[in-house]
Amino acid sequence: MTESTNLSCRMGMEIPARLTTFMQAAGKIAAGRGQRLYLVGGVVRDLLLGQTNLDLDLVIEGNAIELAQNLAEMVCGKITIHTRFNTAKIQWDKWSVDLASARSESYAQPGALPSVRPNSIENDLFRRDFTINAMAVHLNPDYYGKLIDQYGGQGDLKHRLIRVLHEKSFIDDATRIWRGLRYEQRLGFRLEDTTLRLLERDIEMLDTISGDRIRYELECVLQEKQPERVLFRAEELGVLGKLSPALKGNGWLAAKFEQARQVSSPNPPPIGLYLALFFYRLTVEQSNPLLTFLRLPKSLAQVLRDTISLKDWLPRLDSPQVRPGYIYQVLKDYKPLAITANSLATDSATVRQNLGLFLDKLRYVKSVLTGNDLMRLGILPGPRLKEILRRLHEARLEGQVRSKREEEALVRDWLAS
Ligand code: CTP
Repeated sequence: MTESTNLSCRMGMEIPARLTTFMQAAGKIAAGRGQRLYLVGGVVRDLLLGQTNLDLDLVIEGNAIELAQNLAEMVCGKITIHTRFNTAKIQWDKWSVDLASARSESYAQPGALPSVRPNSIENDLFRRDFTINAMAVHLNPDYYGKLIDQYGGQGDLKHRLIRVLHEKSFIDDATRIWRGLRYEQRLGFRLEDTTLRLLERDIEMLDTISGDRIRYELECVLQEKQPERVLFRAEELGVLGKLSPALKGNGWLAAKFEQARQVSSPNPPPIGLYLALFFYRLTVEQSNPLLTFLRLPKSLAQVLRDTISLKDWLPRLDSPQVRPGYIYQVLKDYKPLAITANSLATDSATVRQNLGLFLDKLRYVKSVLTGNDLMRLGILPGPRLKEILRRLHEARLEGQVRSKREEEALVRDWLAS
C-alpha cells in the first residue's frame, strides 16, 4: 500500500457502525472549526492487520476537551476529563472513546511522566513507541479514511518488525521495553536489529520506572493470550532479571500457564493465577521486596504470599490416607487461588487430589446446628460450646453425620459421655 492508502472500507468492516458514524460526526464537527481530527495508535495498526480493535483513540489538532464535550452531548454519554493532559474519555452504551490534543512530549528525566505541548499530528506520532503504533487515519469529511504513515509503519507491518522511532525512545520511557516484547510475541514479529540493540543497551533504564508502572506493564503481559512467550523472551533478554534475578520464564512456566488455561476454560485464567504461578518458585525472602515494589492490591499480594507459604505444607498432604478434617484444617485460611496455583504446580497427583477435594467440596461443608441450637440442648455459651461446634463441623467433613437429626444425636452422645 502507498502513502495515499485509504482505510474507510476496512473501518466499515472492522468497526461497528455506531462507532464509525460517531467518528464521521466527530470529523465533521472538527472540520467545522477548521481543525483536523485523527484516529491513531493501536487501532490503526490492527485495522491494517485486519484485526478488530474497539479501543478508539482520537487525536485532534486543537482542544480535545471542547470537542469531547460536544461529542458527549451528541451521544448523551458520560465524559471524564483530565485537564492536566488535555485528554477526555467519552462513554455511552457499551462504547468508550479516548480523545487527546495532538502534542509533543519532552522528558525532564528518563522514566518521568513527560511534559506536553500542543503540536501537529506529525509530532504527535513521532513521540510514540513504535512505527507500527505511530500511524493515524484522517477523520475529516474531505479526507475520511486517509492513512498518515510518516515513519514507515506499513512497511514494518509488512516485514513483521518492531522498530522505535528514535534512538532515545527506551531512555525516555523504559516501559516501552516491556511493550516491545509484548507486541513482538503477540504479533509474531521480530525486534528490528537496531531496536534490539537499543533495547539491550537501555535495559538499565528500567530502574527509572516506578513500581506502579511496572505493575501495569506486567498486568498487560498477563492479559496476552500467551503471556509465557513474553516472559520467556523477557528472561532471554535480561529484562526479567531486572525485576528479580530469581524469576524464571522457562518451559516449566509455559507448561503451567497452559494448564491454567485448560482449567479456567472457556475464560482466560485470572491474572492472579498467572501471577501466583509466576511467583511460585520464589522464596518468601525473594518475593517480599517484589511485592513491596509492585504495590499489588492487598488481596492479590495475599494470594502470592499464600501460594509461597503453602508450598511448605504440601508434603503433609501427600498421602491418600490424609483425613478430610486434616485437609480442611491445613487449607482453610489460604486463598483459593493460592490453592489452585499449588495444585497446578505440584508434581504429586495425591497432593493435587487432596487440594482438589478441598476446593471442590470441603470448603463448602457446613454443619447445620447453630450455637443457639446447642444452647437449647443445654450447653452454656463459652469455649466448650465453641469446641462442640468445631467437632460437629469435623464430623460433617468426615461424613460421620449427614443430617440435622444425626448432628443432634451425636451431640447428645457427647453430652451423655
Ligand atoms: N504509546 C506510546 N508509548 C507508551 C504507551 C503508549 O507511544 N509507553 C502510544 C502508542 O502509539 C500506542 C498508543 O499510545 O499505540 C495507545 O497506547 P495503548 O492503548 O497502551 O496501546 P495500543 O497500541 O492500543 O496497544 P494494545 O493493543 O496493547 O492495547
